Amino acid sequence: MGNRLIGYGSYLPERVMTNQDFEKIMDTSDEWIVSRTGMRERHMARDDETVVDMAAIAAQRALDNAKLTIDDIDLIIVANVSAELDFPSVGCQILGKLGATKNIPAFDVRGACTGYIYALHCARAFFTAGIHNRIMIIGAEKMSRFIDWSDRSTAVLFGDGAGAMIFEHSTSSYSGIIDTVIMSDGNEFNMLHGSTDHRIIMNGPETYKKAVQLMPDAARYIMSHAGITADNVDWIIPHQANLRIIQSCAEKLDFPMEKILVTVDKHANTSGASGVLALSYAFDNDIIKRGQLILYPAFGSGLTWGAALIRV
Ligand code: ACO
Repeated sequence: MGNRLIGYGSYLPERVMTNQDFEKIMDTSDEWIVSRTGMRERHMARDDETVVDMAAIAAQRALDNAKLTIDDIDLIIVANVSAELDFPSVGCQILGKLGATKNIPAFDVRGACTGYIYALHCARAFFTAGIHNRIMIIGAEKMSRFIDWSDRSTAVLFGDGAGAMIFEHSTSSYSGIIDTVIMSDGNEFNMLHGSTDHRIIMNGPETYKKAVQLMPDAARYIMSHAGITADNVDWIIPHQANLRIIQSCAEKLDFPMEKILVTVDKHANTSGASGVLALSYAFDNDIIKRGQLILYPAFGSGLTWGAALIRV
């Protein structure tokens, strides 16, 4: 049983923080940030703006795009690690915000920067099992909640935002979420994690080494699993962690940078929102066309990694 993408939407907070803004508050420079990461600016939520607020706006925009209401959705899966409340799930809170009158199952997945691939994997499984008809995937993060403003090596890397995609059951197995793979390795969790006082702890160089190995591995695995080669792929949307990581993946996969979507310069690393937000950006700016085949490799804290193949 297949599925197809019928709607998308996103939300970025109004406030934009540039590299020059960081220069004013810590010992860093636009030159260092751009040359090491490719980042130029990132959106940051207001203090009173929550993960649920952002997720609900992205979800409503996806519903509007699909000409549906929340009651038309059968399942909501939200990728996030930065929700303000430990419980209930962001998914349940969104239902309240969007005024659902039906009892719609909703839950969160905590795959960090691979979270949206975990969500897509769950959605594929539900479609394959024939359990749900219309599934909304949301990636929403307020990573600025975790910024340690005294640590210049992590403070500049993250941004806030949310994206949503709606998939509907279809008889075609060549559209929508075609294939997914997810992996994790808990032995390496110390490389990148949140602390009990809500700060990002990261060994940057080690994380970098793992990212440039595991994202191409996941991409190669899913292409071979789906029986395709890079020539069949129209676009790669890698997790937007760092431009150098993205360039290295392109090189390892022998894939031209012109067909790799890059939003890290504008959004920085939005963790579980990254790939969903990037797809909305690509549609809104007429970069990716309907019918094209997208390969989504991702990597994150956990360690987690994986990939998805989606025909949009
Ligand atoms: N401005 C200026 N200098 C800085 C800054 C900064 N913002 N941050 C660090 N430096 C300095 C360091 O202090 C160090 O100085 P020193 O040599 O005098 O000690 C120097 O720059 C080099 O530091 P490194 O950490 O070796 O820098 P590197 O070239 O590795 O780049 C970076 C750091 C960008 C963090 C890189 O390691 C990286 O991208 N790693 C992967 C990070 C990542 O992808 N994380 C997200 C994973 S996904 C998830 O789940 C959240």
